[in-house]
Amino acid sequence: MPAAGFSVSASASSEFEAKITPIVIISCFMAATGGLMFGYDVGISGGVTSMDDFLIKFFPAVYRRKHETTESNYCKYDNQGLQLFTSSLYLAGLTATFFASYTTRNLGRRLTMLIAGIFFIVGVILTGAAQDLPMLIVGRILLGCGVGFANQAVPLFLSEIAPTRIRGGLNILFQLNVTIGILFASLVNYGTDNIHPWGWRLSLSLAGIPALLLTVGALLVVDTPNSLIERGRLEEGKAVLKKIRGTENVEPEYNEILEASRISHQVKHPFRNLLQRRNRPQLIIAILLQIFQQFTGINAIMFYAPVLFNTLGFKSSAALYSAVITGAVNVLSTVVSIYSVDKVGRRVLLLEAGVQMFLSQVVIAVVLGVKLSDHSDNLGRGYGIFVVVMVCTFVSSFAWSWGPLGWLIPSETFPLETRSAGQSVTVCVNLLFTFVIAQAFLSMLCHLKYGIFVFFSAWVVVMSVFVLFFLPETKNVPIEEMAERVWKQHWFWKRFMDDDDDDDKSNGADGAVKKAQP
Ligand code: BGC
Repeated sequence: MPAAGFSVSASASSEFEAKITPIVIISCFMAATGGLMFGYDVGISGGVTSMDDFLIKFFPAVYRRKHETTESNYCKYDNQGLQLFTSSLYLAGLTATFFASYTTRNLGRRLTMLIAGIFFIVGVILTGAAQDLPMLIVGRILLGCGVGFANQAVPLFLSEIAPTRIRGGLNILFQLNVTIGILFASLVNYGTDNIHPWGWRLSLSLAGIPALLLTVGALLVVDTPNSLIERGRLEEGKAVLKKIRGTENVEPEYNEILEASRISHQVKHPFRNLLQRRNRPQLIIAILLQIFQQFTGINAIMFYAPVLFNTLGFKSSAALYSAVITGAVNVLSTVVSIYSVDKVGRRVLLLEAGVQMFLSQVVIAVVLGVKLSDHSDNLGRGYGIFVVVMVCTFVSSFAWSWGPLGWLIPSETFPLETRSAGQSVTVCVNLLFTFVIAQAFLSMLCHLKYGIFVFFSAWVVVMSVFVLFFLPETKNVPIEEMAERVWKQHWFWKRFMDDDDDDDKSNGADGAVKKAQP
């Protein structure tokens, strides 16, 4: 196989002494609430936008269209305002990421999470109490800012606070909580659907629970030693390191963080550094993984599952119920990934999922194409259930592949000095393409009809071919050995690794990076 299917020799890297202390457990709860909030926002909008009370209040035109028999099934929900309700959050989030990148570096991870929590709380109040469309959209924008800040800070916080040997597991734990947030939202929607006329308000307001948890959590925890040391608070950083590792023997790790922070200070322009030739492979892969993750079509399902099932002729409650089923499959399948990602590796999961996603999407397209005409209002019970099963097949494969790995791989492939800028680009591109799908899906459904699933399945082929040839295996490779053991060995990417950029010398990164190599 041309891609990096080489075997990985036993790690030569040293492990620092570390216990799994209560403070590390608390930090896991932090991740949980940051991820929960993101997931809740993803999952809540589809259910709310299929509720009549909500449509009557904010989108009366959509409500009328929904109940007109002359309107094509596929076009009932095609409304720019309605799509803006869902997508404004992501547009705000991707803009906020750049500010979050600044605060994460200069004010610390903890304070950035606190800022996220405050954005969330104000956003929840505005959306839950919304009197008109502008108030609703402003609330969504504030929630989006919260997502931008949280998704930048929480994964970094976790990576830094976690002992090396459980870092991968903790990373996917973040995604697990995203999926729990989505499921929680579907359950809430299922419960509030019968509360008239304010059920939707309850749906939007219950986001206050994860928002409060994140805020209180951010107030309680300490900042990471890396962030404290980077901001010159050396003694405090060392004390925190002793506390979180549960040992007095932290000198080796402390020195490594000190060295990393020295290198980080020499890099005056993290984003320019990111553009250097030797960072090209990681940058290209991080960007493409985000685009591909969204072009699997997952969020067409996550945002609009109830709307989609409604389109297929399910009654409102049956549609919400089906969304709960897909949400549960999403959570359970993410657990599969936690257990297998370090055993079978990233490539196997992505390639297997590619086949499964392609087949399920093609089957859905064929069933809808043959069985659902534009104006018949029902797919029939048997075919309806069959489509739900196929959607679950699709969701499960996403959940153990592109879902968690879209976040994991960029976080483990960037070298230290560009890791935070890399994370910011990752979050930004992810939210940008989430926005594109959120904004375009209902119009695409209206115009392409069942062809929308053919469209996404074609993308699945493209991304699987990319994985086959261009994505190296990073399983069990220590982060600091990626350049030597992954990029320099890869048939294609090694060409970016053999020369030094002149730019490096101008900002002092080159010498520093060389020193950091083992
Ligand atoms: C994606 C989200 C998606 C979620 C579904 C995440 O990895 O970034 O856009 O909604 O997975 O579980």
